[in-house]
Amino acid sequence: MSDNGLFLTLEGIDGAGKSSHLDALEALFRAQGREVVRTREPGGTPLAETLRELILEQLMDPLTESLLVFAARRDHIAQVIEPALARGDVVLCDRFTDATFAYQGAGRGFDQAVLSTLEQWVQAEAGRAAPLQPHITLWFDLAPGIAAQRLAGARVPDKFEAQPVEFFSRVAQGYAARAAADANRFVRIDASQARDQVWQQVETALVARGVLNRGSAR
Ligand code: TYD
Repeated sequence: MSDNGLFLTLEGIDGAGKSSHLDALEALFRAQGREVVRTREPGGTPLAETLRELILEQLMDPLTESLLVFAARRDHIAQVIEPALARGDVVLCDRFTDATFAYQGAGRGFDQAVLSTLEQWVQAEAGRAAPLQPHITLWFDLAPGIAAQRLAGARVPDKFEAQPVEFFSRVAQGYAARAAADANRFVRIDASQARDQVWQQVETALVARGVLNRGSAR
């Protein structure tokens, strides 16, 4: 991997508002001369987007769901993420493996040790000492009750969005546990604030991490 490829992920429960900052993030990196690959999980390749439809629409047991999520991830890493990082690009990815630990692990109650094994397999790369992980993860943290209010009526819910608030409480706890276990990688964003203030937190965090100069994307 090139020294200056940057793998940046956005995470949070449904309704936390993470996706609404992707345009501005992309614009800011581009304004600073970076090539940006914007992508998402599950998805990001034709095969992974096909798997996404199944994952978001079909009922299945949590092992099947986890295997499909990681199968999609493997294709995405091999086809898109690794080549982009090797070119030195910024990879802006809407969700990655933390979502699997939060949704399939904490939310659905699936075995975290199995997820860890899949994580090692799928994110391992020949010649690399440690499995691929994002360099920085922006975690949009919002109380599940508020996220549910924000989502209500916004669109037809998918399989996960249709879950009760208790499910999202578990997912939120799953994110908190992942963040506590990898505090250097995670940046907690207080997503309860107004959108502009949330954006300020994002920009400030990336400037503090040395991956951005303070810009004027907005
Ligand atoms: P999301 O990223 O919220 O996209 P959109 O804004 O288009 O709805 O939807 C993806 C859903 O997939 C979300 O509910 C979380 C779920 N998901 C998992 O359950 N496991 C995973 O590993 C990933 C990446 C996502």
